[in-house]
Formats: sequence, C-alpha cells, structure tokens
Amino acid sequence: MEVADLNTVLRRGHPAAERCLSALGRRLYFPGGVTAQAAEAAGCPLNATIGQFVDDDGGAVPLPSMARAIDALDGREVFLYAPQGGRKDLRQAWQARLREQTDGPLSLPMVTSGLTHGLSIVADMFTDVGTQVLLPDPGWGNYNHIFGTRCGAEMVPYSVLTERGELNLSAIAAALDATRGPAVLLLNFPSNPLGYTPTLEEAAALVEVIRAAPNPLVVLCDDAYHGMVWEDGLAVDGIFPLLAGADPARILPIKIDGATKELFFFGGRVGFITFGADGAPGAALEEKARALARATISSVSAPSQAMVMKALSAPDLAAQQAVLRDVLRRRYRVLCAALERHNLSVYRFNSAFFALLRVENSHAIRRGLLQDGVGLVAFPGALRLSYSTIPEGEIDRLVAITASHISR
Ligand SMILES: Cc1ncc(COP(=O)(O)O)c(C=O)c1O
Repeated sequence: MEVADLNTVLRRGHPAAERCLSALGRRLYFPGGVTAQAAEAAGCPLNATIGQFVDDDGGAVPLPSMARAIDALDGREVFLYAPQGGRKDLRQAWQARLREQTDGPLSLPMVTSGLTHGLSIVADMFTDVGTQVLLPDPGWGNYNHIFGTRCGAEMVPYSVLTERGELNLSAIAAALDATRGPAVLLLNFPSNPLGYTPTLEEAAALVEVIRAAPNPLVVLCDDAYHGMVWEDGLAVDGIFPLLAGADPARILPIKIDGATKELFFFGGRVGFITFGADGAPGAALEEKARALARATISSVSAPSQAMVMKALSAPDLAAQQAVLRDVLRRRYRVLCAALERHNLSVYRFNSAFFALLRVENSHAIRRGLLQDGVGLVAFPGALRLSYSTIPEGEIDRLVAITASHISR
C-alpha cells in the first residue's frame, strides 16, 4: 500500500494510532519491488526473480560443512544466548579472512542479522534527515528504504555505467563534487541488479576519484556478492581494500558483507560490519554499532553463528565454495551465449547472480512473462534475470521466451 493510503486507513479506522505515530512511523510503508514481484512469480516453473542459489529442482544447496553441522551442533551453541556483537571466535575468524584481502586498518567485525541489518546500522550512525547518500543507479531498491524512508536521508543516484558499459567515473566524481557536507558514498560490487564488477584499472581510478572528494565521506562497500566474479582482470575484493590508508580526516571506509551469499547461507541471517579503522577509533565505532544492535535486535541468532563458524573452520572451505561457484559460472556462460543468440540488449555484466536486460515497458513485459510461467523482476526500463535460480539446461528456454515477449 502507498504510504498516504496506510496513514489514511489508520486515521479513519484508528485515529489514536495515527495521531501517535512518530515521524518515522508516518513515513513507513512496505516497499514493492523485488519481494512483491517475487511473491507474484512464486508459482512460475521458471522463476528467475530472487537472488539466491538453488539446484535444478529448486532445492537448497548448502555447503557440505554446514549441512553436516546441523547434526553436530553443541546444545550450548544453539540454545544459549550469543554475546552482544557476535561470537568472539566468529568475529576473529571473519577478520582473518578480511586480513587476506587487506593490510589496512580493520575494526573487529561485528556480527549483524544479515547484511540489511548492517546497512541499517550504518544508515542510523551516519545519516540525518537531509544527509546526502550517493547511491548506484540502477541499484538494490532496499537502499532507498533503509536510507531514505527510515532515516530521511537525501538520495543522490549516480549512473554506475556509461553508455559504452564502462564504470561511470565522471558521474561519481560529479556527485561527490556536489556534496554539501559530510556524505555517504555507497558502492556495491559485484552489483545487484547489474551483476557488474569493475576492472582492476577502473577500481584504481575510482579510488583516485574518492580520494579527491571535497567533503568528509563514509565509503560504504556493500560486498554482499564477494568472490562471485566470472571473468579475469576484475577487482575481486572490491574497493574496500584499495582504500586502506585513506586519510582518516577525510574518509571512513566501511565494509558490509556476510554469509548470506558468500557462504550460500541465505536463511541464516549472518552478516558483518567492519570499519576501516583500528585502535581506539575502530573500537569506538564498533561500540556505537553494537549499541544500536542492542537497541534493536539485541544479539544475533546463536545457531546461525555456530553454523557459520563450522563453515569457516572447515579446512576445505575454499574448495567447497569453488564447487558451487563453478555451477554459477557455467550458468553465466550459458546465459551469455543465449543472450547473444537471441540478440537481447543487456547491460555489461560479469559477476554475481544477475543480468539486467534493457527493455521498454518492463512492467508490461514482466506481466506477460508471468502468463508463460517466467518470473523476472521489472526495474524502470529494464528486467532483471537471476540466473542463480535457473538450471543450466533451462536458461536458453528462459531467454527464448523472454526474447519473444520483448519483440512483441
Ligand atoms: C546488494 C545486496 N546487499 C544486501 C543484501 C541483503 O542481504 P541480507 O539478505 O543478508 O540482508 C542483498 C540481498 O539480496 C543484496 O543484493
């Protein structure tokens, strides 16, 4: 429902509730977008709406170490409280993983209830009403909800790609130049919905642009799809490690990542927030984040943390991940070939779970596709296809049906 309609319902049906709403309460509505469109496509045999990974029968594909762990968990790890901020061993193990990517300053990663929770902590800590948040366009719709609806920040979209399919450095530079004061720059590579990761050269150039920003800046790296990169020569570890050593008077890098996509643990709700700061400032930032978690979810699910700890302790974790990533990489290659064969226009993509097709009338095409049992997600002027949910052998059929609807 639209926000005005919700408030009208309350005004008419429960005036006391409506009069007592806070400013945030007044702004709240459940956003449409991916979740609503995915619900509509739930019965589709070819459901390519959700950014999760399933096998050819639509079943879950857990890492073997996690599947085994369910039987092996100690009752204390499941039934007792986990500490505020997360299990110490888990936080240290995650930090050790990040250490392999950067020798720059790192706070002790704090466990969050999924990445969304980490993003909302950053939003609460660094945005007031009117703070400018520079967001990728196209980008994950929930950013608007987290920063705009919840915190009242000003959304400033920047185009991720140029017409030629390169990273749009001048759009990001212009958006930074136009900031009025302290601001947040949100980066999401590999990206949703584009499925794009910059080349190493583009990433290095982006860091120069960021370093030249005129105002103090939080650089928020949403690295949800870390490691899901299907071509060579790309910035596999994203931008966060490249900001190591950035002047603390001007730039605070923050990394949001977690088990959701990286460890294929979509239902587990284990994310991490790590500040690119160590020593006393790193600990102070971590404490503020922990204070917010205390005031909202208190602590994160203990069984989920135990499962992630089991995965991180597996000596062959990298090999286990590689097996599942190889399935995704094969789907990616089959999709690239099918898109070319059917001559569809697609934004440049090379990573994560998605391809974004350029179309007119995306909403009408999406509705037509639903009639033919195909679920895609409509964006303005584009359709997002999640190949992570489609068996390799069905991808060509999915693209053929989609192409036939686009050309109608
Ligand atoms: C770019 C991006 N960031 C964050 C998230 C949220 O992750 P989580 O489900 O762990 O909250 C998603 C989920 O689809 C995503 O695509």
